[in-house]
Amino acid sequence: MNKLPPVIAIDGPSGVGKGTIGRLLAQNLNWHFLDSGALYRVLSLAAQQHDVALDNEQALEVLAAHLDVQFKTEKMGVRARVILEGVDVTDVIRTELQGTAASKVSQFLGVRNALLNRQKDFRQAPGLVAEGRDMGTVVFPDAELKLFLIASAEERAERRYRQLKEKGLNVKLADLVIEIAERDLRDQSRAVAPLKPAADSVLLDTTGLNIDEVMIRVKAEVERKLGFEVVSL
Ligand code: DC
Repeated sequence: MNKLPPVIAIDGPSGVGKGTIGRLLAQNLNWHFLDSGALYRVLSLAAQQHDVALDNEQALEVLAAHLDVQFKTEKMGVRARVILEGVDVTDVIRTELQGTAASKVSQFLGVRNALLNRQKDFRQAPGLVAEGRDMGTVVFPDAELKLFLIASAEERAERRYRQLKEKGLNVKLADLVIEIAERDLRDQSRAVAPLKPAADSVLLDTTGLNIDEVMIRVKAEVERKLGFEVVSL
């Protein structure tokens, strides 16, 4: 049997920097990249556009199975435009509101199952960096390396606050702390594929670390587990 291309799974709570770290790593390795949260975000947006309530499990399942979403990739899929029913929704899905809505629709087993194969399809040569909540536990349980990033809720809220401020958005830090804590609780306590580290994952606490410092640790793990050096592009 042919061996499947290697996968590096990066999981962790919202705002921990999985996206930034995952993209950088995929870029350095010249591998494909899966932002699995984007799928749940697109689904919740589609639900809103089609007047499907975010707690209507059956209708959400049907919508997930027929979701007309494309990831238009530039350069090995690291920076993808997200297209829903022919419309570019890359920026629309990134709001806090859509993050919360995504967290709600992602609780249902039928929804998760309907999106499973789309995620597995990203596993293409020469390799895949996949980030989300259940990459190492459910979608790619045989991943060559599983990283679980954590950081204090306060620090995650502050990072998010700075990001949103830079985009010129008017947000309150206190609101972000509450939103992040609520989303953590929902993602961790759901019955299906809850946010938790896989037994064989490497836990990385990024509190107090900048991106470069996290990348140094991530690269060391890649070298240790996959046996090759990661060179920065
Ligand atoms: O990573 P994100 O913030 O874009 O994810 C949005 C929501 O989608 C998150 O709060 C829970 C859900 N999600 C999930 O259930 N499983 C994943 N693998 C990725 C995201």
